[in-house]
Amino acid sequence: MDLDSWMRERRELVESVLLDTVADGFPKPFDGALKYPLQTGGKRIRPILTLAAFELCAPTADRRCALPAALAVELIHTYSLVHDDLPAMDDDDERRGKPTVHRAYDVATAILVGDALLTQAFQLLTDAEAGSDAVRIRLISELAQAAGYRGMVGGQAMDILGGREVTDLNELTTLHRCKTGALIRAAVRMGAIAAEADANMLAALTTYAECAGLAFQLADDVLDADEDEESDSAPSFVRLLGVQGTQQKAESLIRNAKDALREIDGTEGLYALADFIVTRGE
Ligand code: IPE
Ligand code: IPE
Ligand code: MG
Repeated sequence: MDLDSWMRERRELVESVLLDTVADGFPKPFDGALKYPLQTGGKRIRPILTLAAFELCAPTADRRCALPAALAVELIHTYSLVHDDLPAMDDDDERRGKPTVHRAYDVATAILVGDALLTQAFQLLTDAEAGSDAVRIRLISELAQAAGYRGMVGGQAMDILGGREVTDLNELTTLHRCKTGALIRAAVRMGAIAAEADANMLAALTTYAECAGLAFQLADDVLDADEDEESDSAPSFVRLLGVQGTQQKAESLIRNAKDALREIDGTEGLYALADFIVTRGE
């Protein structure tokens, strides 16, 4: 399978409607600031995972039915990066090779941009035309749980407020499962929920997503270790296991992710995405 064109097709679908999610004609300069972090690139791995899970569970359905879920996940991810880069958090001047929102605009704007993207994610899910009310409520609940204090925000709190002291592998695993894994898990599960997948399929995809989500953060730690002075102090698997040990653990998680789908047909896309997670560059 040609992963590049498979990913490109789905990335282009997501990007063709991503800016429309915030196209309400806000006053300038907020209008530009809101669109800015959605236009600086990004791999779009989470919405691609949502589309891939939906396509696996509903192969004959129109994949556009999964777009509200896919876009909502990407809006949450984008907000998380805008806030993560703020001076009170990781204090980063650049992301994806471009100035961060608070550098391109200012700190107040970046806080408001993050708030707006977070809120808009839920508006998208409530307004989605495809699917029943029951599916909509499940999608909203799934995303709220993954993004909130039981998931991503909780992980960020562990990382930023207490993370420098995390030296225990189990604790670090919990931190990463929350900080990064929860949203990746939701991305996959929301594709399956939008497709009204049965419980067995949802369980298999959940295991896939949990393994792939943790592997994603391990691979990120390996990438950061190559280029990031922050890695000396920030909690990371590389500090505990070394680069090689972390890479091996990521590869073993990817094997487990694929194994969870072994009895299901049509998993080429999700298999290829799992491989991409551990072989990707920035
Ligand atoms: C970066 O995520 C932050 C983490 C959760 C590790 P991605 O690597 O998916 O970032 P983009 O969206 O492709 O830039
Ligand atoms: C990004 O985390 C924010 C979330 C995962 C919520 P990191 O600080 O680990 O990632 P980078 O290095 O900024 O992309
Ligand atoms: Mg950061």
